[in-house]
Amino acid sequence: MKVVTAQNELNKLIDRSNRNGKSVGYVPTMGFLHEGHLSLVSQAKANNDIVVMSIFVNPAQFGPGEDYEAYPRDLERDVALAEKAGVDFVFAPSVEEMYPTDGGIRILPGQQADVLCGASRLGHFDGVLKVLLKLFNIVDPDRSYFGMKDAQQLAIIETFVRDYFLRTEIVRVPTVRESDGLAKSSRNVNLSETERLEAPFLYQALQMGQKRIGVSSPDEIEKAIAEFISKQTSGIVDYAKVLSYPSLSEVSEDDSEIILACAVKFSKTRLIDNIIMSTKDDTSCSE
Ligand code: PAF
Repeated sequence: MKVVTAQNELNKLIDRSNRNGKSVGYVPTMGFLHEGHLSLVSQAKANNDIVVMSIFVNPAQFGPGEDYEAYPRDLERDVALAEKAGVDFVFAPSVEEMYPTDGGIRILPGQQADVLCGASRLGHFDGVLKVLLKLFNIVDPDRSYFGMKDAQQLAIIETFVRDYFLRTEIVRVPTVRESDGLAKSSRNVNLSETERLEAPFLYQALQMGQKRIGVSSPDEIEKAIAEFISKQTSGIVDYAKVLSYPSLSEVSEDDSEIILACAVKFSKTRLIDNIIMSTKDDTSCSE
């Protein structure tokens, strides 16, 4: 495995003219790897000849007062885990490498970013799209792998890639959970011992809400999810929403997929979770 920090070096190494027809699977991350990331790698390995992972904590997607500084980092450990998982190239650039100039050009997502995390983290998805456009241009991947825990991010990226004719296929990968149901996240290390015990209630609240789809209204379900979380945890509910997926608009009769999503602020970190369910056969298609 090779670790590269310069974007032009990586671009040269895996340029299409050097690929000899080999396919590239790409796993973009902000590091502090966990089994969720490793499941993206194993999918990428299964379907591609070469696997590239980027590790970059992207300042552009953190707002003032958010956890950019506190975001956990351990490049040495990440590189060892990536190598063991079979990654071929790790791209670990500095902030200066990724943002050498700022000509002020902005990439703005549409209405999918007006709800859920986009409503409470203003500009967050602008920063995600900005870094991804750069990363897609550097790596030029055939397929890119994203976890369904960040379901809103995934929906916006799918729209971005479709609308701007970006030459990568977006592959959805199901959320990986701890044995008690907590979705794996790099941010889980910033939970206190008590909060860690409370955190699985997010998923339980969503599962409770899922059982009420078709029985209660979206509003009632949202209220029930928020109440359940407030009762069972010390966290503050940022949102509990039931929406159509991937449009992230209000639920309607024609929806084929519905998302139940929540975000909860704990003392040092904010967790998100979701269930995406098919309305056709009533089974969840991602959790
Ligand atoms: O999901 C993440 O870790 C980040 O938002 C991403 C896609 C790597 C962009 O910085």
